[in-house]
Amino acid sequence: MQLIVAADYAELSRWGAQFIARKLLQRPTLVLALPTGGTPLGLYQELARFYQERLLDFSQAITFNLDEFLGITPDHPASFRYYMEQNFWCRVNLRPEARHIPQSLPRNPEEECRRYEELLRDAGGLDLALLGLGENGHIAFNEPGTPFESRTHVAELTDRTRWNEALRFRGLEHVPKYAITMGIRTLMNAREILLLVAGAKKAQVLAQALEGPVTPAVPASVLQLHPNLTVLADCAAASLFRT
Ligand code: PGA
Repeated sequence: MQLIVAADYAELSRWGAQFIARKLLQRPTLVLALPTGGTPLGLYQELARFYQERLLDFSQAITFNLDEFLGITPDHPASFRYYMEQNFWCRVNLRPEARHIPQSLPRNPEEECRRYEELLRDAGGLDLALLGLGENGHIAFNEPGTPFESRTHVAELTDRTRWNEALRFRGLEHVPKYAITMGIRTLMNAREILLLVAGAKKAQVLAQALEGPVTPAVPASVLQLHPNLTVLADCAAASLFRT
């Protein structure tokens, strides 16, 4: 594992974007897994700036979002599809057919999970998975207790995760109870992983994930077993590391 500690959120976002930019320059056909949430917003802004300054070209890249809520319309302002359209897709030259995200209203959710895994396989698997970290240790929507061998599946969201989304949905009662998420095995099969972690409220769970026991109780702890993991954290998030 490689740990990189950035001074603050701005530096974290810049370094994260530079990391991805280097990979994309080396391999224009990069297959990338993308997260949503607050943490990657600055990184998406930086990548969009690189594109606008003609330093990067996304025309051959393929992206797969990690997860999406079930039971809301795709254009719902709190959907991850909407987030991606607003914060990234509309700002770079990714081809529409190269941007993947699970459907939020599939006729058959299990079938949608299988379709998503097949799309990933047909794309040749993930070159790089960019991940965030939940306060409860989740990666994508793999909540505590998710088996390490899981593939893309329907996940029941924990109360804590739903509370974290309550503001965006304008009330807990509007937050979906289920989502489709890439599984832990799906993520671990990525050839490389970049974990992005910001803020003091993630310090404890980050130390637990990377220095504690590898256990499904802390899904991100599985990352200790990945052969090509880079952790990019700001000072606040890295503050409880022993080493
Ligand atoms: P955040 O979410 O970036 O909004 O903190 C991370 C996550 O829950 O995976």
